[in-house]
Amino acid sequence: MEKPATGEDCAKALERLMARDQYSPDSLIEILHAAQEMLGYLPSSALKQIARGLKLPPSRVLGVASFYHLFRFEPCKAHTAVVCLGTACYAAGGSTLMADLQQRLGASAGWTIESGRCIGSCGLAPIVLVDGEEAVRTNPERILQRTKLAEEKRQ
Ligand code: FES
Repeated sequence: MEKPATGEDCAKALERLMARDQYSPDSLIEILHAAQEMLGYLPSSALKQIARGLKLPPSRVLGVASFYHLFRFEPCKAHTAVVCLGTACYAAGGSTLMADLQQRLGASAGWTIESGRCIGSCGLAPIVLVDGEEAVRTNPERILQRTKLAEEKRQ
């Protein structure tokens, strides 16, 4: 889905999505997905518009959106690290890795650090999705080095 250029374009695109589904409250999760794909996150203005459009209480829309781990309410920073905290990754030190990353990168303006669920690569635990790509059996130094190399390649 193409990213709208302005807030007004976003509102129109959301309206079209809801109209396509005939403003059915049953399409809430699908609309939330589409809104996040379009905007990169779910700002409160979009949540309010969705609640109005689907004739749902705003608390219900926020409740559903906050229940699911994959929805975000703030824009991503330049880099994201999603640490798998599924059973295998947790047992392989995922929670320590998460704490390390939060301590070393979390305060940085350039990183969004999040936890995630099993992505099915348990044999390579612990796994971190760095900017959407798997980093296996990793640690904070490798993640930083990998990101630095990728940035150098782009320049
Ligand atoms: S538990 Fe992390 S990939 Fe399965």
